[in-house]
Amino acid sequence: MILIIYAHPYPRHSHANQRLLQGIKDLPDVKIRSLYDLYPDFSIDIKAEQKAVEEADLVVFQHPLQWYGLPPMLKLWIDKVLEHGWAYGHGGEALRGKGFLWAVTTGGNEQHFELGSHPDFATLAQPVEATALYCGMKWQPYFTLHNTFTCDEVSLNAGAKAYRQRLIDWQIAHPTVLVDAQTAEGEVNG
Ligand SMILES: Cc1cc2nc3c(=O)[nH]c(=O)nc-3n(C[C@H](O)[C@H](O)[C@H](O)COP(=O)(O)O)c2cc1C
Repeated sequence: MILIIYAHPYPRHSHANQRLLQGIKDLPDVKIRSLYDLYPDFSIDIKAEQKAVEEADLVVFQHPLQWYGLPPMLKLWIDKVLEHGWAYGHGGEALRGKGFLWAVTTGGNEQHFELGSHPDFATLAQPVEATALYCGMKWQPYFTLHNTFTCDEVSLNAGAKAYRQRLIDWQIAHPTVLVDAQTAEGEVNG
């Protein structure tokens, strides 16, 4: 199962992220948890989040870039959900071996992150990558959709298509995961 941990502070005002989600929501075995919809008071249900993550084979953090970092709810999610003894430390094996994908949209265009006066994307990714690696997850090349301030329909559609393809490619590369899920679903339904 692919689990999308989606953190958009104003989900109903989103253009880019909504378009990305629209493009994947019909894929089999993909679950989306919109943190700002689930927890408007920022009171994260740690056990529910951990259960969702335990069932996932690929965990995706999807969000708009905010001040070169994560929206606050996603940072809180990391601080609360990735507990010692569960995610890391003695007995903390829950995430080990799962794939991890960082999917981020940015107002800045690609050149903005290549100028040298701002961190480039590989540098921006480091805290997220380090967190994933610390918990034993398998870091995937990140997915970006840039230039969302001025993005037109063609670019948004191309971004959505590319995101969908990234998830499909991951499923194809991990066929047993999909087959296992379909078998389990068949057992439940049959
Ligand atoms: C508080 C805030 C901070 C932002 N910081 C950045 C930033 O550091 N770099 C950047 O490229 N875009 C930044 N943006 C722009 C968002 O990343 C952009 O609006 C978003 O990716 C568009 O996606 P959406 O249509 O789903 O909202 C920021 C936006 C907000 C509201």
